[in-house]
Amino acid sequence: MAALKVAGTVRVPGDKSISHRSLILGALAIGESRIRGILDSEDVRSTAGVLRALGAPVGEIASDMRLEGVGLRGLKQSQGSLDCGNSGTTTRLMAGVAAAHPFASRFEGDASLSRRPMKRIAEPLSNMGARFEFARGDGLPMTVRGGDLRTIDWNTRAASAQVKSAILLAGLVAGVEVRVTEKSPSRDHTERMLRATGVDVENDGNQVCLRPAKRLTSIQVDVPADPSSAAFFVALAALASDGELLLTDVCLNPTRTGFLEVMKRMGARIDVLETTETGGETVGTVRVLPSQLRRVSVGAAEVPSLIDELPLLACTAAAAGTDLEIRGAEELRVKESDRIATVVHNLRVVGVEVEELPDGMRVIGRKRDLDGVIDPRGDHRIAMAFGVLSAASGNRIRIMNPECVAVSYPGFWDDLRRVTA
Ligand code: S3P
Repeated sequence: MAALKVAGTVRVPGDKSISHRSLILGALAIGESRIRGILDSEDVRSTAGVLRALGAPVGEIASDMRLEGVGLRGLKQSQGSLDCGNSGTTTRLMAGVAAAHPFASRFEGDASLSRRPMKRIAEPLSNMGARFEFARGDGLPMTVRGGDLRTIDWNTRAASAQVKSAILLAGLVAGVEVRVTEKSPSRDHTERMLRATGVDVENDGNQVCLRPAKRLTSIQVDVPADPSSAAFFVALAALASDGELLLTDVCLNPTRTGFLEVMKRMGARIDVLETTETGGETVGTVRVLPSQLRRVSVGAAEVPSLIDELPLLACTAAAAGTDLEIRGAEELRVKESDRIATVVHNLRVVGVEVEELPDGMRVIGRKRDLDGVIDPRGDHRIAMAFGVLSAASGNRIRIMNPECVAVSYPGFWDDLRRVTA
């Protein structure tokens, strides 16, 4: 393996989950909201586009943007379909919002999004009183006919913040109490942001309960750096043989720090230097030093806290030549690609021994030179995970369609070049 030296400070772009929610809550609020540091990426533009199509005066995405809300139930029927692009979060959260409005909304998306399951939101939202129509299976295009909704007490099958948030937003807009119970808690940004504006939302272990609110007051959000984007540089620095990286302003919400915990278990030298609180979220600077990584396993209870980082974890173990086992992660099969199949296939292409499991994978660690051509199947996180593997292996791995990173991190390749130059 080639020696990798890293140096510098990276402030990765704004958190994607918080960016989507800032736009949606800003559009549903009364008065002017202010959002600073929003992520400008294709997925977030999809949410802005859908809100605009529903009559919310959302301007261009900008680093300091103001947004006039239309109030709860103030959206209007769209003339055309709602184009959600590649974004599952846009689709599922906005389906919750649309379910509580008295008109039909037709959601569509790209080929990857059209394959993703929507039954998980159609079931609870239908139970609340909305109607769903699918052209085929339970994928997009999907029409949601909304109206007056009833209260619900729902147990989700898989921990999913998108499903939980769809139900919370439907309850918020409809003015009814909703309760959601998950097997293990998913990310809780929706709850934190709603609480910050005075909505009565209570988290108790795996359960969340939202009580009716008459209106939503305007929001002020400083979007912290996305821990899922920062994770690529955490892995890179741990795999390096020299230098250090500082990642600033990283969102350290405990439902999102699973990757840092697992990396520490692997032996990564990571410390959090300073933390502050903003908008109900803890943010901090993360320092990572070159590390001797060792074998690790990840099980179901931990999966939600690093769901988007699991492809990267597999690439990190492969680059370090250590064993890794991931179980209880069948949700990876219904992400932007089947992330178990895509990772396993591409690791084999570059010469890594890996076993595919129905709910995860086993990487068999062995130090060796890796090279080959990766097809990320249009999946942004797969492209970036293999980008880290490539840098750690001396850049002998080529990645097809590298521009697919624009979904969540348009400047990724520039930042990667800068810290490894
Ligand atoms: C997200 C939730 C997660 C995550 C996705 C963003 C969100 O999906 O994978 O990238 O913003 O709510 P699930 O809720 O389906 O697990």
